Amino acid sequence: MSNTSFLYVANWKAYLSFEQAKEWIANHKQPLATLAKDHQIVICPSFDALSAIAHELKNTNVAIGAQDCSAHKAGAFTGQVLAASLKEIGCTYCFIGHSEIRREYKETDKTIAAKTLLLLEQEITPIICIGESKEDYDQNLSIQVIEQQLTPILTILPAKKSATIAIGYEPLWAIGSTTLPSTEFLKKQLFTIKRLANQIIPSYKTILLYGGGANETNIRTFKDNPLLDGVLIGGASTDFQKLQKIVLS
Ligand code: PGA
Repeated sequence: MSNTSFLYVANWKAYLSFEQAKEWIANHKQPLATLAKDHQIVICPSFDALSAIAHELKNTNVAIGAQDCSAHKAGAFTGQVLAASLKEIGCTYCFIGHSEIRREYKETDKTIAAKTLLLLEQEITPIICIGESKEDYDQNLSIQVIEQQLTPILTILPAKKSATIAIGYEPLWAIGSTTLPSTEFLKKQLFTIKRLANQIIPSYKTILLYGGGANETNIRTFKDNPLLDGVLIGGASTDFQKLQKIVLS
């Protein structure tokens, strides 16, 4: 029996072009909508397809998320997309601080904190991604790294009792790979995140997610983990059959 409150966030990254994303939705809209009647599914297309897909899925239970947003409210920021626009489009979730964005754009914790605030203002749930590199993992620095990443972001949040944030633990060495963290290791990392959230933002509802190599064959490991509220699925989520298996496993 599958857990109906478990959250499945499909991060399509830049795997699909605009036309391919539209075609994916055209081909799978019906079964996806059926799946979302009993399960919480968030589709996060790239910016180009966001509006079209939000429109297509408007009258379904499928939620829409963005993969990033601007750290500015509005203004002369070429190439950026405002949190306010995401709200207008119908997004209810937005990734921030994904390791691929941190790496490409040298994003800082300060920028991620600014994005968090703008998203909360728009009542969009930020999915704050954190995770250590392979190097840090090998040097036993995993706990310190996630503490260092998360503390400045959580500290900046105003004490706003009703807000919900999601924290995505995504070890960089597991993203796009078949190497998964051991249950014991994952437990330690998730406990660290929970401890920080309880200490710094006790009045917030914190959703705890795991991302990195999750697929239809290993998904039960994560669903059976009582500390997790959901998963972030990259590569496997662009294949509808795999996504369906992940949700129904
Ligand atoms: P993956 O990506 O499932 O392809 O490892 C997860 C993510 O980066 O969110």
